[in-house]
Amino acid sequence: MRPLISPSILSADFACLGAEIEAIDAAGADMIHMDVMDGHYVPNLTFGAPVIKKLRACSQKPFDVHLMISNPAQYIHAFAEAGADYLTIHPEADPHAHRTLQAIRQAGMKAGIALNPSTPTDHVDYLLDTLDLILVMSVNPGFGGQSFIHNQLQKISDLRDRIEASGQDIILEVDGGVTPETAPLALSAGATSLVAGTAVFKGGKSAYADNIAALRGGLKV
Ligand code: DX5
Ligand code: ZN
Repeated sequence: MRPLISPSILSADFACLGAEIEAIDAAGADMIHMDVMDGHYVPNLTFGAPVIKKLRACSQKPFDVHLMISNPAQYIHAFAEAGADYLTIHPEADPHAHRTLQAIRQAGMKAGIALNPSTPTDHVDYLLDTLDLILVMSVNPGFGGQSFIHNQLQKISDLRDRIEASGQDIILEVDGGVTPETAPLALSAGATSLVAGTAVFKGGKSAYADNIAALRGGLKV
């Protein structure tokens, strides 16, 4: 199956985010991955709903918003209003993940959960019917440019089995250290969507289409 590619704008030029999003859209991105960090749940700060709201005009592609923030439930309506399509939370950042996932759907968005490298697969067991996306973190969250943690391949494969058994339509996305070398490993393990920052944005705008194609195994579609 053709993998979805969701470039992470964490590696884009923040001085011209709008133009960067237009460029990755034109280069073949399927979704736009946006890493929201609060300096509390993760040791880094990025941007929030007001920035995403302004960027909404730059692309019709789904905004795949990855919240690395404490107490994500408090911001659901702000991100819905900003135009997020997928809203993904970390369960460690929310004592009531099931309720928050339901609230994300009620607000009109698709609901996602992100599993840190140390978070076990069975964390999703009682959440599957509330989920549209599962994000496997193949690095510890907070920074781009880290190396893929290979033991997460087993988690991807275990999650693929659980998704198949559930019969639900859930995107299985991998985030962190995804390159043309690690992408095929993640896809063979059962991932259907690849997030990549460094590997997409390296080399400037003229390289984006080739960088995205390289993640698809050279396929330009
Ligand atoms: C890390 C973020 C990732 C990051 C990936 O916390 O969730 O989306 O941008 O960056 P690369 O592809 O450079 O590992
Ligand atoms: Zn991310």
